Amino acid sequence: MAIFEVDHLSLHYLTRFGQKIHAVTDVSFTMEKGKILGIAGESGCGKSTLVNGLMGLFIPPLYPTSGDVRVAGESLMNRSPKDIRENVLSRKVSMIPQGAFNALNPTRKVKDIAADVMSAHMKGIDKSHIYDRLRERFDLFGMDTNKVLNSYPIQLTAGERQRSVIGISTLLNPQMVIADEPTSALDVTTQKVVIKLIFDLLEKGIFSTMIFITHELPLLRHVAHDIAIMYAGEFVEVGTTEQIVFDPRHPYTKALMGAMLSAEPGQRQRKPTAIEGAPPNLANAIQGCRFADRCPAARAECKVNKQEIRIVGERQVRCDYAQ
Ligand SMILES: Nc1ncnc2c1ncn2[C@@H]1O[C@H](COP(=O)(O)OP(=O)(O)O)[C@@H](O)[C@H]1O
Ligand SMILES: [Mg+2]
Repeated sequence: MAIFEVDHLSLHYLTRFGQKIHAVTDVSFTMEKGKILGIAGESGCGKSTLVNGLMGLFIPPLYPTSGDVRVAGESLMNRSPKDIRENVLSRKVSMIPQGAFNALNPTRKVKDIAADVMSAHMKGIDKSHIYDRLRERFDLFGMDTNKVLNSYPIQLTAGERQRSVIGISTLLNPQMVIADEPTSALDVTTQKVVIKLIFDLLEKGIFSTMIFITHELPLLRHVAHDIAIMYAGEFVEVGTTEQIVFDPRHPYTKALMGAMLSAEPGQRQRKPTAIEGAPPNLANAIQGCRFADRCPAARAECKVNKQEIRIVGERQVRCDYAQ
């Protein structure tokens, strides 16, 4: 059975001037337990907005336009942020955020930040028992547990902070973890430590199902079973990692692979060949293909005809001409 189901999810921001920004449009996918889905796309394509929608967390100016998200059959839509925080986050869906520094309250020690998460969900449990559980969990992370738990976030290295955030996000063994660019602010060495930590937690069964979001497509090669490519708020290609990385069919996926691969470590310091042009303004209604203006294979019809997801080469592609 699918543990996570997303049906035609569309989300918008409502600006102060009453303008709607359609940041996510018609996203659908399902995930089986134990799967890792990577989501990749340029900055601004709607990844973080989607994350909020996937947690059912709607804080103005973000609103659901339509669609549904279900965790183990339970819908997360039409629920208050209070309900979501108390009954869904940490236990059912947990997010490892972008930028660990901002995710930790600077005025509290790590052990107290973590204890708050646990005690909110385990009413009546005493403090010393909570600290025991915390120590046990943090011992898995290859850090000086006592030092880390008794420190304020500012006293930790970037790597210790990010590991602490991951530890706190997964304390309650959530059914589903969503990591939103968890390594993007880190140096290469720390990135590796963090990726290894995520794999250790998966191996130890602390969580089993994960969405890993990044703007660096190559990173997903070693992480994800499946990959969804996002462009201007839409999924444009969804397939296995093998299909997306070695045999992309959508012109945007091809461009993204070209732009990224040349920037991989070991291939010298070549700058990625940026994809020319910019994504469309999501405040305007978009008639045809959203990538048409930047697509090397675009035809006149592409600017007029709405592109629907279809199956090409056993994966989903949103392009009438992909083969
Ligand atoms: N609070 C907001 N109000 C209006 N538009 C927003 C807001 N936050 C993000 N956006 C817009 O939504 C789009 C998607 O942003 P985001 O989800 O942060 O993308 P990503 O995470 O892929 O970089 C962007 O065009 C961004 O400008
Ligand atoms: Mg983001």
